[in-house]
Amino acid sequence: MSKTIIISNRLPVQLEIHNNEIKTTPSVGGLATGMKSVHSGSNDLWIGWSGLTDENIPKNLEEKIDTTLKDHGCAKVKLNAEEVDGFYFGFSNRTIWPLFHYFLEYSEFELNNWEIYKAVNQKFADAIIAKADDDDIIWVHDYQLMLVPQMVKDKKPDISIGFFLHIPFPSYEIFRTLPWREEILRGLMGSDLIGFHTYDYERHFLSSVRRLLGLDVSFNEVHIENRIVKVDSFPMGIDYKKFSEAGKANSLNITENQSDFQQRLNAHKESTKDAKLILSIDRLDYTKGIAKRLNAFEYFLNKHPEYKEKVRLIILAVPSRSNVPQYQLLKKEVDELVGRINGEFSTVNWTPIWYFYRSMPFENLIDLYTSCDIAWLTPIRDGMNLVAKEYIATRTDKTGVLILSEMAGSANEMNESLLINPNNFEQTVAALQQAINMPVEEQQERNDILQKRLERYNVEKWANDFINSLKEQKENSISYV
Ligand code: UDP
Ligand code: G6P
Repeated sequence: MSKTIIISNRLPVQLEIHNNEIKTTPSVGGLATGMKSVHSGSNDLWIGWSGLTDENIPKNLEEKIDTTLKDHGCAKVKLNAEEVDGFYFGFSNRTIWPLFHYFLEYSEFELNNWEIYKAVNQKFADAIIAKADDDDIIWVHDYQLMLVPQMVKDKKPDISIGFFLHIPFPSYEIFRTLPWREEILRGLMGSDLIGFHTYDYERHFLSSVRRLLGLDVSFNEVHIENRIVKVDSFPMGIDYKKFSEAGKANSLNITENQSDFQQRLNAHKESTKDAKLILSIDRLDYTKGIAKRLNAFEYFLNKHPEYKEKVRLIILAVPSRSNVPQYQLLKKEVDELVGRINGEFSTVNWTPIWYFYRSMPFENLIDLYTSCDIAWLTPIRDGMNLVAKEYIATRTDKTGVLILSEMAGSANEMNESLLINPNNFEQTVAALQQAINMPVEEQQERNDILQKRLERYNVEKWANDFINSLKEQKENSISYV
């Protein structure tokens, strides 16, 4: 029977070793959380990096690591510290990530990192080639592995290969600044199907293919030698049932069954009945606009002092890529901003910001989603933003207001939220006021539409659509030849 091989840098679990024991923690980030729902319960194999470097793995644990990963339906690609540095922290997160999110000034073009990126992509491709049969389906994920499709196609020309990009594909004017732009496009063109979250990203990609590779593009198909590569948009959904049921369970739960965290949130809500909780959840990443959000919050409190003690901002910033200097600087900036705003506005009864720098278990994420009256998610640029969808899905009684950046991919499907440009502080202040004062009936009307849409186009539907389109493409491609 044919199987699907999923391949991404990040696996759904991360391994750590403490006192010669293996510890697994769920991975954070939309790729891992979303694909995890698709993967669980299937017989698919998921190949990726375990989060450990070769130097950190004691010889006696090698086998145990493999069995631990196997229990999660996964297999590892081994990387040493130099590879992780050049491929992951280097080319992936200091070149491609900033460039594709329009942070051109943060992009570094280091030849050595590019060489390591190529070598590590070859390692991932070799891992697929070693495990794949000709009738298998290969599904490659994200910007860390853009050369893998062609590397696999070179060795297994008949196998079906799909690629999905979880981040934006930038406009041609940005993409053309990359010294290795043609190589990246050629790597991707080894796929039979290339998927993006939005039509805009798809359009940008096709324009680069046409202008840089001079290939023939008709509608969403690219003709290359004797093959056709299909390019399409598939906006990623969430495991709607999981989030709405967790939201329901949380609201029905009698106090003793609720988490300690939820009970504390309840106590605060009880003691400040007319105050609104505003939630912000992101990985600590400069693309997410956390510092800008804090500046906007300060601006709001200065402009509208009548809201002092009437709002509280809860910030959950999940540690991410902390070896990259831009992330270290951002951490410092956010720490300082939170300190400054709390120092400036706190009263004996009130601290305007609660700041958590950590990741939270699923249960506590649900506690936050269900307890906060407003979700304020305003990335400067974001491929999708699943947190926005998760917040809406947990709102069992359909209350809650979502303030969302129009620069997030999810904004395309969430028109009923309050869409704003995060650079426009006047608009942000107006949206905060509107959210704080929105009548319950209006909240419910908006969320009803959003929930129905999210339920219909959930992550399972997203994955099925992609795989079915890949199968169809393969068949068409054969008849074309
Ligand atoms: N998330 C998590 N633990 C946390 C905070 C967030 O697992 O403490 C998850 C969250 O539920 C969501 C994902 O991380 O599924 C973030 O995905 P999103 O698309 O919003 O952003 P990304 O991090 O992929 O850029
Ligand atoms: C984004 C990327 C993913 C990545 C995730 C977390 O969602 O698209 O590929 O896995 O961020 O980042 P990390 O660097 O920790 O894998």
